[in-house]
Amino acid sequence: MHRRRRGPIILLVGLLLAVVAACGGGGDEGGAQAADKVEVFSWWDGPGEKEGLEALIAYFKRDNPTTEFINAAVAGGAGGNARTVLSSRLAAGDPPDSYQTHLGLEQTADIQAGKVEDLTAMYQQNGWRDKFPASILEAGTIGGKIYSVPLTIHRSNVLWFNPRTVKSAGITKPPTTWSQFLTVAAKLKAKNVIPLSIGPSWTQKHLLENVLLGELGPEKYTGLWNGKTSWRGADVRAAVTMFDKVLAMSDVDSVGGDWQSALDKMITGDAAYTVMGDWADAYLGRAKSLKFKVDYDAVVSPGTSGVFNFLSDTFTLPKGAPHRAAAEKWLAACASLEGQEALAVKKGSLPARIDTDKSKYHDYLATALAAWQDPATVVVGSMTHGVVVDTAQSAEVDTALAAFEEKGDAGALVEALASIFE
Ligand code: GAL
Repeated sequence: MHRRRRGPIILLVGLLLAVVAACGGGGDEGGAQAADKVEVFSWWDGPGEKEGLEALIAYFKRDNPTTEFINAAVAGGAGGNARTVLSSRLAAGDPPDSYQTHLGLEQTADIQAGKVEDLTAMYQQNGWRDKFPASILEAGTIGGKIYSVPLTIHRSNVLWFNPRTVKSAGITKPPTTWSQFLTVAAKLKAKNVIPLSIGPSWTQKHLLENVLLGELGPEKYTGLWNGKTSWRGADVRAAVTMFDKVLAMSDVDSVGGDWQSALDKMITGDAAYTVMGDWADAYLGRAKSLKFKVDYDAVVSPGTSGVFNFLSDTFTLPKGAPHRAAAEKWLAACASLEGQEALAVKKGSLPARIDTDKSKYHDYLATALAAWQDPATVVVGSMTHGVVVDTAQSAEVDTALAAFEEKGDAGALVEALASIFE
């Protein structure tokens, strides 16, 4: 299947302007006494995520009222746009005081390039080690050291849907396998409903990881990224073919905007389902004031019952941070229970800490917390959101997917992915 390639030119110009603006803004802290301010870099600038960041900033400001807070968020692309700006700033020796990244291998390039400080001693001084699950500390420990403070837990494998739309197409139960999905998708298509709404390239990558997870199961899925599962095996080829079929049931040829736009089509009933991380809950339930179970609903993506495909947003201390003392205070706010809870309920995330008060989480979030805390849940790491692959591999997956989008050759996609991970 040939798919239309959307022009990246506008985005590129926007990013270049942002890089120039960001580079031009730094470097005024030459004096011995750094001003009392903190510049925090993230990608939480869109509806459904900026509200969470604002809640955390308010908490930070409450304890640090004289510190000027510079919110250097760059919206979009699940961090892709921010990452472009950030890389230029780090290369130019113009780091912010703290920046968002994902817990896991996404951090390795910056660690190897000596761009971030080792926070192991800070964990010891503040007693943070006891506050996070062992699995999170393990995912954040690279070469025996820990370089960031985990703030959130998100679930990647969620199928969101419009209950009215699926009901009116005669669908009584959400699909629990991808082949069941194809059956209900045919029904929806017959009623002129888009079975699956999708967004820009990164959301297709997000779909890919969850089709692979659903088709292969957690063990083989994890093996894809650590070399234990052969990409050229018949089961993986079949899973990639399934991805192709699922994508063919989407509106991939006419996407625009970011992840929120994919949800918009589901809200209006133009589309029935979408696969997105559970930050979608903040957009639907808070930004759009929709009612869980009435206006929107969620189940685990097909084939992933009992599995939690996790990712975690985490904040760093870059080497040469111009306002180091304030940056440490920001990291302390990120590590605090109150800060994590303030952000979580607004952003549709769970706190990375273990000691949250369950009564604060309702509707979708209560189900996510129960799954996360259930010892029987099998936890795997997200590829798209940096847990199990590094930035270089992630960029190669983007290239492979762009070629697939252009030519629609599932066999070539398998070969391209095999050559990255084997
Ligand atoms: C993810 C991030 C989430 C959410 C999402 C969409 O990478 O971890 O917190 O912001 O991108 O922007």
